[in-house]
Amino acid sequence: MAKRQFLVTSALPYSNGRLHVGHITGAYLPADTYVRYLRARGEDVRFICGSDDNGVASLISARKEGRSVEELTAHYNARQAADFKGLGIEFDVYGGTHQPGFVELHNQISQGFFKQTFDKGYFVKKTTEQLYDEQAGQFLPDRYVKGTCYHRKADGTPCEYPEAYGDQCEQCGNSIDPMLLKDPVSTITGTRPVPRKTTHWYMQLPKFEKPLREWLESKREPKDGSPPWRDTVLNFALGQIKQGLPERAMTRDLHWGVPVPLDDPDAQGKVLYVWFDAPIGYVSFTAKWCEEHEGDWRAYERWWKNPDCKIVHFIGEDNTVFHALTWPAMLMAEGSYQLPWQVVANSFLNIKFPGQEEQKISKSRGTAIWIEEYLKMFEPDPLRYYLTSIAPERQRTAFDVDAFIEANNAILSNTLGNFVNRTLTFAQKYFDNRVPEAGTRGPGEQQQLANIREAAARTTELLEAFRFKDAMEAVINLARQANGYFSEKAPWAQRKTDMAACGTTINVCIQMVKALTVLIAPFMPSSALRCARMLNLPVSPSGQLALPPIAWDEATVELPAGHALGEPVILFQKLDPGQIFADGK
Ligand code: 2FM
Ligand code: ZN
Repeated sequence: MAKRQFLVTSALPYSNGRLHVGHITGAYLPADTYVRYLRARGEDVRFICGSDDNGVASLISARKEGRSVEELTAHYNARQAADFKGLGIEFDVYGGTHQPGFVELHNQISQGFFKQTFDKGYFVKKTTEQLYDEQAGQFLPDRYVKGTCYHRKADGTPCEYPEAYGDQCEQCGNSIDPMLLKDPVSTITGTRPVPRKTTHWYMQLPKFEKPLREWLESKREPKDGSPPWRDTVLNFALGQIKQGLPERAMTRDLHWGVPVPLDDPDAQGKVLYVWFDAPIGYVSFTAKWCEEHEGDWRAYERWWKNPDCKIVHFIGEDNTVFHALTWPAMLMAEGSYQLPWQVVANSFLNIKFPGQEEQKISKSRGTAIWIEEYLKMFEPDPLRYYLTSIAPERQRTAFDVDAFIEANNAILSNTLGNFVNRTLTFAQKYFDNRVPEAGTRGPGEQQQLANIREAAARTTELLEAFRFKDAMEAVINLARQANGYFSEKAPWAQRKTDMAACGTTINVCIQMVKALTVLIAPFMPSSALRCARMLNLPVSPSGQLALPPIAWDEATVELPAGHALGEPVILFQKLDPGQIFADGK
């Protein structure tokens, strides 16, 4: 079958802070899982991410931390890259919209994009009143202002979230016009801002309501058999169109960002809106990858302007408005790009520490589990497993610290790890560390081989449909069946009475270990690597996690009798319930 081509992106995190479990479950872990699956199938994939450096969020944090915005964004860009690597989340490129080595190409492509859209007449220049901080002597775009939300929530009741930022309300998810915020306050000086006139370029989003609606409707049951988009994304985006899309200013009064590429005195001292340039980061980082690996940055067109390439965006729910509406409208307006094939959005994650109520993850209240801290104590895979098992694919879920420990001990250690370990130590001890002869397989054995085929088919189907939680459950279910089969056959007793039957049992168990090695790889790559080594399967010489280079189809291919095995090791350590996370510090 011809290779399929995919360009997968994860939302660019703001480079103004560390990553916590909520970030990972939203836009990064499912994307990495998907990419690993596609790679195992031999598809042509690039996985793109990097930091969102421009805009007000970084400026605010730089001021708070008392360092330059360049220093701050470089620091967190490196921190985030290290956290992702520690979790085995492996991008082809991790860029940054204002990072050295990336910023030049990013500005060039973003400016070209803006210019093309401008030349096509999709911007209107308008002078309006905006909020101005007289004490700070500057305008207050986006997060520089806070106030009470004026929108209604999905259930029709007023939102009235008092901490809504000037760009978006975190409670109801709607975009905010800062001029409409009730009781606005400057986040720089804490003073009440005053209106003052300024000029900006507004994108005519209303012109795209109809094409966006038709395009989104087509994603409910795509005619070409592509997986439908999640209802949460479609309902939110179509609901916004129903209310009417406003014209949106795509420029800002700031000195940090991509300069507005217009030969107009009113454009002086202005930059592109961060939500205009951020998604173009996906493109510019792809271009950078092409420059470095193919010697020509323009080769990004093979991904972005090629209708055969499927563009998949993984995001947190708060980014839905930008990825399902604004960005596609920008792409339609520019005209030479193709539209996203999928936008996969996840809800937020709450947190529950032992003995406490479930609560929202909050940096300021210290209720978070930071990846940097987690990795000082634990292996990546238990977290990858647990976060996928509670993936907020349909609604908000909670990270429960006790449940994390329990999942590690009961499922990873006692079920999956125990099965792999008892099978392989048995083979080592009684079969000269080789795969025994299959011998005569009875209905019990045929059933387990059928279970492998069924689990492989089901996992494939679910991963293709972006149902990561159910896909992993199908794999864990196979581990349960395997463990049950081992116990039922009791090879330790068979050994004493019928060595051939014992060999048959262990042969089947090893086939199940092999299937599990392949099937857990997208979810738990380091454990899959360990299993591959225990089975003495060929692994990449560098021992890279982007492996095992065991093809997905190998799940149902048996290891031959006589195959020499590797050294069995413990797959998952038990965790002590006392080993809890220091909350949020
Ligand atoms: O919400 C956020 O963290 C944004 N920085 C996401 C940007 S995604 C993209 F479009 F770049
Ligand atoms: Zn709101």
